[in-house]
Amino acid sequence: MSVPKTMKAVVENSAQDGVVVKDIPIPPLEDNEVLIKVHHVTLNPTDWKHVDALSTTDSIIGCDYAGTVVAVPGSVAHQRDHIKIGTRVAGWVHGGHYKTRGAFAEYLKVPADLTFPIPDDMPTEEACTFGVPFYTAFHALKYSQKGAWPPGLDDSWFLVYGGSSGVGLFTIQLAKMMGHKVVTACGARNIDLVKSYGADAVVEYKAGENAINMIKQITGGGVHKALDCISLPESNAFTIACFAPGKGQMNVILPPDAKAVSVRPDVDVQMTLLYTLWERAFEFGPRDGPKMSFPALPQELEFHRELVVRIPQYIAAGFKALPIEKRGGINDIEQGFADMRDGKLSGKRYVYAIA
Ligand SMILES: NC(=O)c1ccc[n+]([C@@H]2O[C@H](COP(=O)([O-])OP(=O)(O)OC[C@H]3O[C@@H](n4cnc5c(N)ncnc54)[C@H](OP(=O)(O)O)[C@@H]3O)[C@@H](O)[C@H]2O)c1
Repeated sequence: MSVPKTMKAVVENSAQDGVVVKDIPIPPLEDNEVLIKVHHVTLNPTDWKHVDALSTTDSIIGCDYAGTVVAVPGSVAHQRDHIKIGTRVAGWVHGGHYKTRGAFAEYLKVPADLTFPIPDDMPTEEACTFGVPFYTAFHALKYSQKGAWPPGLDDSWFLVYGGSSGVGLFTIQLAKMMGHKVVTACGARNIDLVKSYGADAVVEYKAGENAINMIKQITGGGVHKALDCISLPESNAFTIACFAPGKGQMNVILPPDAKAVSVRPDVDVQMTLLYTLWERAFEFGPRDGPKMSFPALPQELEFHRELVVRIPQYIAAGFKALPIEKRGGINDIEQGFADMRDGKLSGKRYVYAIA
C-alpha cells in the first residue's frame, strides 16, 4: 500500500484559540510502531478540554480511532498475529500531547501491541467507540478490585453514576460482566438506553435527594462500590451519599471534590487517569500553569497490553459499541467540540469519516 508524504490533521492552534486542519508530514515510525490509515474517529470530552487548556504547541488532537494497518516495519517487537498490512484495527492514543501522535489525522502511528483487531462484522464507525471510554471503565474498575485482575465475580449492587455517558455505558456492561447488579443515575431521556446496556435499576439524577433515597431502597440500604462517571462536585456528593454504612470503594475519573467526599472517611476514593496506561512519562496540566509529572508505569502498560488482547473476546461475549451520530469529515470536528462544550452530546458519540 503506498503511503503519501503528508497528511491532513487537526492540529492545536493556541494562537487562535482553537485548532486548524493542515497538511503535516506523515509521522516517522519508531520501534514497535505501525502506521494506520484512519477511517473513523470519535470525540471525547478530553479532546475539547485539551484544545481549550491542555494541548501542547502544534500537537495533533484526538484519541479514538479505527482504521487499516498500512505499514509494519520489520522491527516490530511485540508482534501479534493481527498486525499485518490490511488488518482493520481500533484503539486510542494520548491525543493533544505530541506533534506526531494523535487520532484526528489521515494517518496515525501506534505501538503494534496497543491496537486491537476489529471483528469482521463490526463497522469502523462503531469500532472507534471502543477507545477512551471503554479503557477508562476497565482502568477505573480494575482499581476497585485492588489489583486482582481479572476480577472474581461479585453479585453485590454497583452504582454507575452518569450511566448514559460514554464511560457510563461501558461501565454498566463491565460491572454486569463482573457479576454485579447495576443501579445507575442518568437523564430522563436516556432511561431506556441504559437499560438496553444492562442496567438493572435506573434513577434520574435530577431528582436529587429523592433519587438517592430510591437507590438506597433498591439496594437494601446503599452500595459498597460505585464509579462516578461524571466526577463533578455535585456528582461526587450524590455518589458518596448512596454508600451503605461501613467500608466502601468509590472510583472517580476527575480529581475528587475534597469537601464532597470528606463526609465518608470510611469510603476509599480512588482517582484514575487513563494516560498512565502508556509507557511514556508525561506532564499533565494547564498549558500556562503548573503541571503534574507522571512516571512511566510498567505495570500499567502491561494491563493495557492484556486488555487489548481481550477486547475481541469481550465484543464476542456481547460488549456493545456506543450509539453513534455520523457528523461529516475532518473539517467538521471543530463544530463537534463546540457542541460538546455546550453540553449537547447525550447518550452517544459523534463520529467523523476521515479517509
Ligand atoms: N480520568 C480519565 O482518565 C478520564 C477518562 C475518560 C473521561 N474522563 C472524564 O470523564 C467525564 C465523562 O466522560 P465521557 O466521555 O463519558 O462523557 P460524555 O459521554 O461526553 O458525557 C455525556 C453524558 O454526560 C451526562 N451528564 C452530564 N452531566 C451530568 C450530571 N451532572 N449527572 C449525570 N450525568 C451527567 C449526560 O447525561 P444525560 O444526557 O442522560 O443527562 C450525557 O449523556 C468527562 O469529564 C471526561 O473528561 C476522564
